[in-house]
Amino acid sequence: MKTQITELFGIEHPIIQGGMHYVGFAELAAAVSNAGGLGIITGLTQGTPDKLDAEIKKCQELTDKPFGVNLTFLPSLTPPDYPGLIEVIINNGVKVVETAGRNPAVYMPAMKDAGIKVIHKCTSVRHSIKAQDIGCDAVSVDGFECGGHPGEDDIPNFILLPRAADELDIPFVASGGMADARSLIAAMALGAEGMNMGTRFIATKDAPVHQNVKEAIVNASELDTRLIMRSLTNTERVLNNPAVESLMAKEKAYGDELKFEDIIDEVAGVYPKVMMDGEPEAGAWSCGMVAGLVSEIPTVKELIDRIMAEAEKIGSSKLQKAI
Ligand SMILES: Cc1cc2nc3c(=O)[nH]c(=O)nc-3n(C[C@H](O)[C@H](O)[C@H](O)COP(=O)(O)O)c2cc1C
Repeated sequence: MKTQITELFGIEHPIIQGGMHYVGFAELAAAVSNAGGLGIITGLTQGTPDKLDAEIKKCQELTDKPFGVNLTFLPSLTPPDYPGLIEVIINNGVKVVETAGRNPAVYMPAMKDAGIKVIHKCTSVRHSIKAQDIGCDAVSVDGFECGGHPGEDDIPNFILLPRAADELDIPFVASGGMADARSLIAAMALGAEGMNMGTRFIATKDAPVHQNVKEAIVNASELDTRLIMRSLTNTERVLNNPAVESLMAKEKAYGDELKFEDIIDEVAGVYPKVMMDGEPEAGAWSCGMVAGLVSEIPTVKELIDRIMAEAEKIGSSKLQKAI
């Protein structure tokens, strides 16, 4: 399939694996890129330039196809060494960066000078326009369904994607709730040039996370996610579990007085325990409603091959016949 996104990133299929904390390691990124999509290493999981440098080099040993690095810009008292992380991305010749969180404008000149294509993750049309204005090459539009941080507008993709299509000149991928060929064809009908998946890629054989996490996603339905931290204007969609219920009980009790410190036990240092040690109930971790569409654990290649084969069938038989 040829779209503006496959052309922009030099990939075979318009499928991107979004950056995911403690999931987006070299193994997964390389598996996605080897299967013809665009794999993404999560920069902040590595944390330091030296560690990111090693992870990028590892990925380069596993694939000779293009892959990217996610840089999530979080408000922080002690911010990571973003200039150092960008330097190793440039020095290793990585040509795609997925930015997320705060506006990446200050880092754009360095990335553009190095010939890097930047795709910024946005949960609203206004942020997507801003991304276009500061020189991003593409946008990943994350609807309300998405795992992780859906923003505060609560606009689902059936509205958000065509709104983005109406306003943007640069290409965008649909993100949030994407799982299969139906997602891809629907996203393209709504104006996207491809799709980005997070949760779906965790439940694959290639994702270097504990089997318990994959099974938790397979066993979850579309009813099993919760929104937390809304009163902190840092809303996150997570998989429900006893720790999340305890966190939500605190949110209810404290109301607008809730502070981050009140819920630190349920959110801090959770990812290594969940993803590496296999304790999915250790705290709150991002997961999309799309878990309801995930019923097995294929390899990344099986997943992507199936999506592309079925997408062709939907396009060439079902839609063409109906029209
Ligand atoms: C476990 C997990 C961790 C994530 N971590 C990050 C992250 O560190 N940075 C980021 O930009 N997005 C992160 N995301 C969001 C994904 O990149 C992607 O936008 C989102 O999962 C899409 O929604 P979906 O899960 O419905 O496919 C994370 C998502 C999940 C499920």
